[in-house]
Amino acid sequence: MQVLTGKEVAEHVYARLEADCREFVHEHGYAPTLAVVLVGSDPASQSDVAVKNQAVLSVGYGHRDYQLPEHTSEEALLALVHSLNIDPLVHGILVQLPLPSHMSEERVIQAIAVEKDVDGFHPQSVGNLLIGHPGFVSCTPQGVMEMIDYYQIETAGKHVVILGRSNIVGKPMASLLIQKGRDATITICHSKTQNLTELTRQADILIAAIGKPLFVTKDMIKEGCIIIDVGINRVQDASRKRGYRLVGDVDYEHVAPLCKAITPVPGGVGVMTIAILMKNTMQAAVQLASEETV
Ligand code: GUN
Repeated sequence: MQVLTGKEVAEHVYARLEADCREFVHEHGYAPTLAVVLVGSDPASQSDVAVKNQAVLSVGYGHRDYQLPEHTSEEALLALVHSLNIDPLVHGILVQLPLPSHMSEERVIQAIAVEKDVDGFHPQSVGNLLIGHPGFVSCTPQGVMEMIDYYQIETAGKHVVILGRSNIVGKPMASLLIQKGRDATITICHSKTQNLTELTRQADILIAAIGKPLFVTKDMIKEGCIIIDVGINRVQDASRKRGYRLVGDVDYEHVAPLCKAITPVPGGVGVMTIAILMKNTMQAAVQLASEETV
């Protein structure tokens, strides 16, 4: 059984981006810059944003950090997004989700200029992905693809079963894997799927992205399959100083011995998400800079 660690893949991505960033600064006199907008003080979002900000600094990018109070109006947030859209020294815009309930996430996401949509959440980015046109792809599924390439996992003709139909992971994951050149056969399962185990046991590659701790058990898989666990769940653990530990959507301890390969949690797909966010920011900066010079 092979353990597919994300750290190793992410290190390659970061090493390349640091070099690309130095080259970009040398050529243009400014660094690729990501604006990160956080509304409110949700602890999970705050720590997620802190990790993103750290990554931005570590690769040498420029950085704009906006922390707005919970009661910020949607109009004020939209005004900030518009000002970032037209700021030539901002290349990527990320508005941390979830937003407070008095705001429409849909309206805010749609307000982000598609050429700065490094999250890949804008409907136009999603449409481009579906029809195989260039554009930004949601970071987690793109991170999974990067791992698939790095570990040379064959997808052509394979039956990939995806657990979860979210706009951020499940749907874009399926869109990536059905493209020509990837050529997988996809089944997407969700909370209303009947005979789930019958389907998951057919998977050559099982991608779990449902946010349910240890949901996939050993009776649900085919021996020799490859498992990619996108779940990052906190479960109470009094033996840990912080009172919890992180587990995936897969019961790793019992499932791993039966697999050909599996991603661990933590240390698997998680680190790839931010590495791809950095990659998308570089892509945005390069594209915007090339448009400037024509
Ligand atoms: N909240 C949790 N993950 C993400 C992400 O990847 N992007 C944004 N914008 N918000 C998030």
